[in-house]
Amino acid sequence: MSNASKRVAIVGSGTIGKILEGFLQADHQITMVNRQTFSNTQWQDFAIVCLAIKPQDFKLLTTLPLDQALVISVMTGITTTTLMQITQSAKVIRTMPNTPIKIGLGMTAWCKTPAVTQAETDWFQTVFSKVSTLLDVIDDDGIDKATAISASGPGFIFAMIEQYSTAAQALGLTKEQAELLVIETFFGAATLLKQSGLSAATLREQVTSKGGTTAAGLAAMGSDNQWLEVLQAAYQRAQELSQ
Ligand SMILES: NC(=O)c1ccc[n+]([C@@H]2O[C@H](COP(=O)([O-])OP(=O)(O)OC[C@H]3O[C@@H](n4cnc5c(N)ncnc54)[C@H](OP(=O)(O)O)[C@@H]3O)[C@@H](O)[C@H]2O)c1
Repeated sequence: MSNASKRVAIVGSGTIGKILEGFLQADHQITMVNRQTFSNTQWQDFAIVCLAIKPQDFKLLTTLPLDQALVISVMTGITTTTLMQITQSAKVIRTMPNTPIKIGLGMTAWCKTPAVTQAETDWFQTVFSKVSTLLDVIDDDGIDKATAISASGPGFIFAMIEQYSTAAQALGLTKEQAELLVIETFFGAATLLKQSGLSAATLREQVTSKGGTTAAGLAAMGSDNQWLEVLQAAYQRAQELSQ
């Protein structure tokens, strides 16, 4: 995209709006639009408009005159069809980032409408890949699935870490000792998995000797896949929010 098309409005200066501002401001001319400045905003001044307000606030807007702009949404539960209707723009990229984007380790699922050009897609990928890994999930249903898996995912992982750490304390360690052992184990295992190129199953087999401690722990874990229920519940809720 040309320099002239680097004028970006970010609507909503909350948690996600500020993160977007942080990684866009080096190469773009940013205008933060808040509740106070919203009604006086000259929308035609912007080639790109990022929507980072709560879905319930967005639904209160009847229309936004963004017909010339590329619209980037991070809002949960607002479909590309609704985005096109309210913004009056045919060019919409719907994204679903997760909170590790704050430290440049985000996972962003995205999809786009057919009118988005290749140059705009390239721009989006270049900019968002600075702070997250990207996956084109093709459509709104893909976004609902990613909402369950990667956007809600940090919450599931934090809950797991809490439980793991509570169990470690029950063995007689202090909170600090337990948390250090648990957090470093999660971090090291995830990094090894990512960097080694090996599957989780292979790495699990490598650390599981017959009759050893890992084998004893894994036997106690059982083979029930509780993640299926967790993800189905979150996916179903994402679908309800998209209605
Ligand atoms: N936080 C996450 O982890 C996460 C992850 C993925 C996606 N998202 C999505 O990102 C969006 C923003 O989330 P957030 O956590 O950043 O919310 P937030 O911290 O509540 O920020 C939203 C901001 O938008 C402002 N606002 C409301 N209506 C506005 C309007 N008409 N014009 C301009 N500003 C307006 C709010 O002002 P007031 O304070 O006055 O209400 C608030 O400052 C949500 O749709 C959420 O689903 C969030």
